[in-house]
Amino acid sequence: MHARVVAATTAALLGAMTLSPASQVRAAGAARQPVIVAHRGASAYAPENTLPAIDKAAELGFRWVENDVQRTKDGELVVLHDDSLRRTTDAARVFPDRAPWKVKDFTAAEIARLDAGSWFSPTYAGTRVPTLEQYMRRVERDRESLLLEVKNPELYPGIEQQTLKVLGEEGWLDHRHLAGRLIVQSFSAASVRTVHDLAPAVTTALLGRPDTADLDRYAGFTDSINPSYGTLDADYVSAVHALTGPHGDPVKVFTWTVDDAVRARTAAGYGVDGLITDRPDVVRAALEGP
Ligand code: G3P
Ligand code: CA
Repeated sequence: MHARVVAATTAALLGAMTLSPASQVRAAGAARQPVIVAHRGASAYAPENTLPAIDKAAELGFRWVENDVQRTKDGELVVLHDDSLRRTTDAARVFPDRAPWKVKDFTAAEIARLDAGSWFSPTYAGTRVPTLEQYMRRVERDRESLLLEVKNPELYPGIEQQTLKVLGEEGWLDHRHLAGRLIVQSFSAASVRTVHDLAPAVTTALLGRPDTADLDRYAGFTDSINPSYGTLDADYVSAVHALTGPHGDPVKVFTWTVDDAVRARTAAGYGVDGLITDRPDVVRAALEGP
């Protein structure tokens, strides 16, 4: 029995040695299931970036959720994707004279009056835009982990420090949370660098797809490079994995937005570490399927 195991392991190793680097990543990826992240919560089934969306992700059995953090006129951090309230709330009805309804032009009290659920379905009428504090408490209650996006940081000077302050106050910067329950990401490399400089123990990610030749510029302060699905291939994943991140591990790749079985299997075959999706149940079924 022991000899058979040794022989099989040796054969596998010899097989791997004949593979190209990209194929080796694919082979490794086949054994290592990517983490599934519910994008803006389980946003195909509940209004994005709301408490019901993260409850839905938990109900479906998912541990990781993603969100977007911005700031109100009076300095409260809130969870919302667009820089305008128009698409995902009834701001245009409640405040008809306040076009273009920018988040930064409304106070927290004004935003708290808005309905962030009816646009999605009458079932969710009365759902509110959560503050970051409310959101963190629900993520904790649901025993979830968070991929937090600092959204549009150029509009909100100092938002990185403020976000870290809320995370600290909510108990998310202790060892238990830092070791595998929190990633802070942004499309802005400057913002990601700021988060790393302010709180070096926090796991970070840069959204987008920097040129392969430039990747090593980012490895000092980002643990993950998170490109859109359409910009990705196996060689790019290999190039990212070849880097060592600020915490001494290979830099990871989480890709978005992967909502169907073909994309899920293709990206998993590239060896990505995470799949960010509005439909986590579809992705799970695709990865588990025949
Ligand atoms: O987490 C990836 C994804 O959220 C980035 O795009 O526009 O949905 O925030 P967006
Ligand atoms: Ca996002």
